[in-house]
Amino acid sequence: MEVLKLKGFQENKTVENQMKRSAKEQAPHHDADSFKKENAIVLDPSYIFNTGDENPISPEDIEALVPLVLDANRMLNKDEGNILDNGIPMTGWQNLPKEIDQNHLQEIKSATDEFSRNIDAFVSIGIGGSYLGIEATFQALTHSYFNQLSREHRGGAPEMYFLGQNMDPDYFRDTLDMLEGKRIGLNVISKSGTTTETAIAFRIILKLIEENWGKDASRFVIATTDKSKGALRRLSEKKGFRTFSIPDNIGGRFSVLTDVGLVGLAMANIDIEEFVEGFRHMRELAMSDDFMANPALLHAAIRHAAWLKGKKIEVVAVNSRSLYSVARWMEQLFPESEGHKGHGMWVSPTMYSEKLHANGQMIQDGERNIMETFLLLKEHDNRIEIPSMEGDPDGLNFLSERGIDMNYVNRKVMEGPAYAHYKGGIPNMTIEIPKRNAFNLGQFFYMMERSVAISGYLLGHNPFIQPGVEAYKKAMFAMIGKPGYEAKAKEMAEEISKLKRIKFNGR
Ligand code: PA5
Repeated sequence: MEVLKLKGFQENKTVENQMKRSAKEQAPHHDADSFKKENAIVLDPSYIFNTGDENPISPEDIEALVPLVLDANRMLNKDEGNILDNGIPMTGWQNLPKEIDQNHLQEIKSATDEFSRNIDAFVSIGIGGSYLGIEATFQALTHSYFNQLSREHRGGAPEMYFLGQNMDPDYFRDTLDMLEGKRIGLNVISKSGTTTETAIAFRIILKLIEENWGKDASRFVIATTDKSKGALRRLSEKKGFRTFSIPDNIGGRFSVLTDVGLVGLAMANIDIEEFVEGFRHMRELAMSDDFMANPALLHAAIRHAAWLKGKKIEVVAVNSRSLYSVARWMEQLFPESEGHKGHGMWVSPTMYSEKLHANGQMIQDGERNIMETFLLLKEHDNRIEIPSMEGDPDGLNFLSERGIDMNYVNRKVMEGPAYAHYKGGIPNMTIEIPKRNAFNLGQFFYMMERSVAISGYLLGHNPFIQPGVEAYKKAMFAMIGKPGYEAKAKEMAEEISKLKRIKFNGR
């Protein structure tokens, strides 16, 4: 049988972009005002107000928050307020875009270029903030089936894998099958150096590397961890791994612009300089005290007003698979920062139109405790035309007759629900990401980091700590019998033994 040939389709622009990155073609000029204008992130809150449900948000609600938001912004700019973690002010991320050193970016690029030449597959090992930012940026900017493309079409980058983000043995085993027969390199990322999932995944891969390459094994390992302390730092020194550092004053979920993110992104051939430029540009906008010109302040005020009106779930809906992991990054950033003392909104990432055929019913007509954020990619890399069909069996020939393509329908798949959900009593806003490029990802991440920090001030607690996450880590250490956690294990066992266990066995 003949194999499928793509007839009438242009070259895939995502692949072309990857190949351009490999040729190190300079991206369109970041400093040029026209580039910044074309890539402006737009926040449209039109459907936030007066939704007609029991607790609508009014423009006056936002106006009432403006002085509080501006106060919070001023405090954040001065590193004041409830921002300490173990005595360290955790706001190092806010000036990082300006402070990041060009020589350091060059150092990362040459280290990863050299590393990349000697491997076929790269494994990034980490969880939470040591994982999500890299995956989000990587997926936003690369082909959906990246690892199945030829190396040339990947723009020279090795295959990319992520491990350590869960403890599913089958997923782990399946990933090993993908790595077998390849020259692999890894980056183990952990600020604390003791996160169980990361440490276990690392052990297994390290053992394999050592069994295969013996004394040479350490050449294939990068460790990204605290600059001076911790188990991973000590091990790296002992074994001679190449290391990169995570600053003391930047927490995991705010760390995508540190070596945590940059090393993996450079390995995937993402333009890290353009990424930094995006952060820098949004930093200028988001530190301003001009409420209407500062998208991070408006974003924070809208979410806070919604929360005060009983909206406890934020559905973040994307119109592109490339942005789905970005919504997952938000799912970490906001709840891990806001979820204190009974406060915070649950963030639920979703992809339209797929989920319109599922939880779309709940959003339209279920409990009115939801707000919705549409994360809209304005310009996709590719354009897909819709053909006409003989006899017009499904009544859709009007699309091709009017020159309507898939991109247009995709756009309506966001605009339609935005209107319908608004009419159904769901306040919603749209954030437009103009194109898939590193500049826009950088801008977006900084805007969200800034917004969640302001949200912490508005809610009255520290958004830079995560005692709840630490609580699960300790309970798990005790349950798996980690030395040093014996007393905790005993206390837990006693409490659990007193619980009435109820199990239904189906009979
Ligand atoms: O945001 C956070 O602080 C967390 O999500 C951490 O990034 C996550 O728990 C991983 O921690 P570590 O880098 O110490 O392994």
